[in-house]
Amino acid sequence: MEAPAAAHNPAEPAQDGVGAQITVNSPEQMQELGRRLAKLLRAGDLVMLNGELGAGKTTLTRGLGEGLGVRGAVTSPTFVIARVHPSLGDGPPLVHVDAYRLGGGLDEMEDLDLDVSLSDSVIVVEWGEGKVEELTDDRLHVVIHRAVGDTTDEVRHVTVTGLGRRWASADLTVLAA
Ligand SMILES: Nc1ncnc2c1ncn2[C@@H]1O[C@H](COP(=O)(O)OP(=O)(O)OP(=O)(O)O)[C@@H](O)[C@H]1O
Ligand SMILES: [Mg+2]
Repeated sequence: MEAPAAAHNPAEPAQDGVGAQITVNSPEQMQELGRRLAKLLRAGDLVMLNGELGAGKTTLTRGLGEGLGVRGAVTSPTFVIARVHPSLGDGPPLVHVDAYRLGGGLDEMEDLDLDVSLSDSVIVVEWGEGKVEELTDDRLHVVIHRAVGDTTDEVRHVTVTGLGRRWASADLTVLAA
């Protein structure tokens, strides 16, 4: 499996794009946020989803898959490390990765032998922190927070930050619309 070309230039440190903070009140709104996020994405993009168990990472990815118009229901890839959802149209496929059990990090991911090239795909990684950053300097970091302890509370605070040149001038505030 081919990794996307890293746009790293040591003379030009990666800059943080303008971030967005969004309050989400329900699973439906989280899915809607995923659909909005999909509009900003193109082939080669890496989205890292972080947040505790049950925060809503897979729910967001479900909306993202809908927004991208890909085949197959996005579910928790608990028993597989990565699942490829091909586009139903002519858009990029969605590669949904659960890095939780990806002990070996990137090498292991490159050995998965997905039959798509990562540079042609939108890659969404749950639990990827400290494991997949080497893929590219251009990353969208999505962090989902929820009130600690209260598992019935549906309110989530989502922070989206763009890293690297790809996102330096992107307007992420459209996500809060
Ligand atoms: N605002 C919300 N956004 C997303 N999910 C919510 C929200 N409120 C409640 N939920 C519920 O929380 C659960 C989130 O599950 P989900 O699988 O998306 O989380 P996850 O972050 O992917 O978990 P894991 O770490 O196990 O992969 C679902 O049961 C969903 O219905
Ligand atoms: Mg999940």
